[in-house]
This record gives sequence, C-alpha cells and structure tokens, in this order.
Amino acid sequence: EVATFYFMFQLQPVGSVAHVQVCGTTTCMICGAESLIEVCRKKIAANAHDLSADGKFSWEEVECLGACTNAPMVQIGKDFYEDLTPAKLCEILDALAVGRVPRPGPQNGRYAAEPLSGLTTLKAHAKGREAANYSVAQALEWGYTVKRIDGGEMPVPKVRSRRAAKVTPATGKLREPLPGANATIDATGITKQEAQAVSKGVPQASSPGKTAVPLTGMRPEALEAARDGHADDLKIIKGIGPALEKLLHGLGIFHFDQIAGWKAADVAWLDENLEGFKGRVTRDEWVAQAKKLAKRGSNNKQHQ
Ligand code: FES
Repeated sequence: EVATFYFMFQLQPVGSVAHVQVCGTTTCMICGAESLIEVCRKKIAANAHDLSADGKFSWEEVECLGACTNAPMVQIGKDFYEDLTPAKLCEILDALAVGRVPRPGPQNGRYAAEPLSGLTTLKAHAKGREAANYSVAQALEWGYTVKRIDGGEMPVPKVRSRRAAKVTPATGKLREPLPGANATIDATGITKQEAQAVSKGVPQASSPGKTAVPLTGMRPEALEAARDGHADDLKIIKGIGPALEKLLHGLGIFHFDQIAGWKAADVAWLDENLEGFKGRVTRDEWVAQAKKLAKRGSNNKQHQ
C-alpha cells in the first residue's frame, strides 16, 4: 500500500538519467500539464513508467507537488522545473540527455513565485537572486541536479538557507561546501558517503578530502549598477547585441573593464549559463575585445 500510494517509490526501473514526474493536478492541468505529458509521450515513451528506447528516461504523472503558483511544472530528481512550456521541457530533456545541467526553478525568468512583472517587495534580492535560490545556485555553481541521485553525491549543508549556502555577501558568489566537512571517517579525509560510494563501485568526482572541481566555473563579480549611472555600450563588442547586453546588465555587468578582467572560470560560467547564447564569450573573444576597448577608454580619459 505504501509503495503504490506514494509516488516517491518506484516499482519498476526508471530512466538511468532522469525520471520525469509531471504534475497533473488542477492548477498545472489548467496551465498546460497535458501538453507536457504529450512531450513525455513523444520524447520518452508512449506510456507512463515505460523506459525510453535508450533507457535514459522515464516519466509518470503525479499529484500536486506544491508549486502551484509556478504551474505547470515537473520534478526531475531533486529539482523542480516550473513555469514550463512544451518547448522548454524539450530543451531540458535534450540537455539532460547529453549530460548538461539545466537550470532548475522557474523557466520564464522568475526567481521564485514573485509577480511576473517584477518584485514589488523584498527588493534587496533584485540582483544576485540566483545565488539566493539554493537549488538554482547548486545547479549553476556545482552542477548538482540529477547528479544528486547517482550515489556519488557530496553532502550538502543541513540547513538550506542563504547563510548555510555560504554566500559571500560582497560578491553574491557561493563558496562550494567541502565534501564531508566535519564528517570524515579516517585520516585520509574520506567521508562516509564517499566510502560507501567507493565500496559500491561508484566513480568519485573528486579525490578524498579535496574540493571537487566546479563544473561550470564561477559567476563573475557583479556591480549593483553602472558606475556613475553610465554603462559602456557593450554592443560595441562583436557578438553582443541588445538582447545579450540586457542579459549582461541583469548579471551586473556594465563595463568593458569588468569583461576585460574575466578569468577562465568566469568565462566558463558565462559560456554555460547565458541562456540561448552558450559558448558566445569564448567564440567571439569578448575578453580580448573588451581589453582593447577598456584601454581605449582609459586613454581617452587621460587626454580629456
Ligand atoms: Fe501542480 Fe500544485 S497543481 S504543483
């Protein structure tokens, strides 16, 4: 009875990459859950609980997951993907199939369940909001999504709060938790979880006692606003158009010298996380272009 009642229990094999749980309850149904189920039928398998042809995916319809304000939504692994459209769900499944880390949470630009038109209160979170959303931050900074269920996961801080996530206030950046902090089982620094994973033959992402290499780099330093109220015209950089410039402003990037100062980790993060423009920073050599423009700007100032 327990196993058949609760959808957390699975009675047959699920996809090796992801099991997609589509909420089909009233709010999600009204907002388009049926079209998400259609996507699952087409892209995964015609019937719920059947494996996809490659064995990577399975799906089922479940009851309300408690994210009704962000309907329609699905749960994949530990994460919610909300405010979905069929096209967005297709993108997420495609990304998971090739081992990429899709950004969890709302998929329409919202940070949580705030009005779509923008924040009306708690505006301190207007910038750097991703870092304050723990699931999103974990996914973007450390690549945690479905990886959390493969047996090789690292422990996460007990309390899921901004404080526990160790956000550096000045930069809004997250510091990665040390694997097994305070929970080592021997002098090598190996954690209980890592030891269990090794004994099960699960490959480890990092050496015992060492911090895992971030998969997606580090979010670049951000400014609250353009200095002196005047942003540089980032569109001068070849490859940056109005849409990308707007995205960059949203990330707190307003000036050539900011881009000129990006290190490999910053570039890696942006290459992975600029939605719709992945790989652009490297492909169009933004840093080299920005260095020239920043230098030109400072020369002009000296001559004035
Ligand atoms: Fe779908 Fe509540 S109805 S999350």
